[in-house]
Amino acid sequence: MYRIAPSILSANFAKLGDEVQAVVAAGADIIHFDVMDNHYVPNLTVGPLVCEALRPLTPAVIDVHLMVRPVDRIVPDFAKAGANIISFHPEASDHVDRTIGLIKEAGCKAGLVLNPATPLSWLDHTLEKIDLILVMSVNPGFGGQKFIPAALQKLRSIRKLIDASGRDIWLEVDGGIKVDNIAEVARAGADTFVAGSAIFGSKDYKATIASMRGELAKA
Ligand code: DX5
Ligand code: ZN
Repeated sequence: MYRIAPSILSANFAKLGDEVQAVVAAGADIIHFDVMDNHYVPNLTVGPLVCEALRPLTPAVIDVHLMVRPVDRIVPDFAKAGANIISFHPEASDHVDRTIGLIKEAGCKAGLVLNPATPLSWLDHTLEKIDLILVMSVNPGFGGQKFIPAALQKLRSIRKLIDASGRDIWLEVDGGIKVDNIAEVARAGADTFVAGSAIFGSKDYKATIASMRGELAKA
């Protein structure tokens, strides 16, 4: 019931294919693919060509986290490149409902990403259409930042909304997730955990993911 999603942002980009295969072999469920444009966020990473190159290397779900503006133009490209989930920040889209529709029409699951200061009201008219809610527990743009504790209350509130909806919506959390806080975050209601530096910054991916699962089993 819990999913672990290593973020390739903290992988060694000089051997990205090997890194993806290594974390999947180490027990990862999902590959979290951070797309930054140096416009919506002050950093620049990778695009659909890199997603397409990684696609044949693993059967794991590729979870594309778009931190770009505009959003819509790039959605079909990621769908063609083999993305399974595409999530975006509502503030970065002019027409949120249209963007969700575009992602679904392209055959992907759609996710909405809430920054630390983004209100839950974005879920008011979207909850019945989305497949995933991604709660940012850091401000987007960089790996290796410190977990913002206010994310816990936000997760609790969203967990209630999801349960009341009766829909199967994944509740993912992104930023500052480590072995020592993952259980607390799970207790707040998250079921899918992005971890970049905690996994790729460790020497033994398998041991780190196993420790995370051990903590989750206690939650
Ligand atoms: C931040 C990214 C995260 C990042 C998390 O904008 O969305 O996915 O890689 O990195 P850690 O786990 O190191 O906080
Ligand atoms: Zn991310």
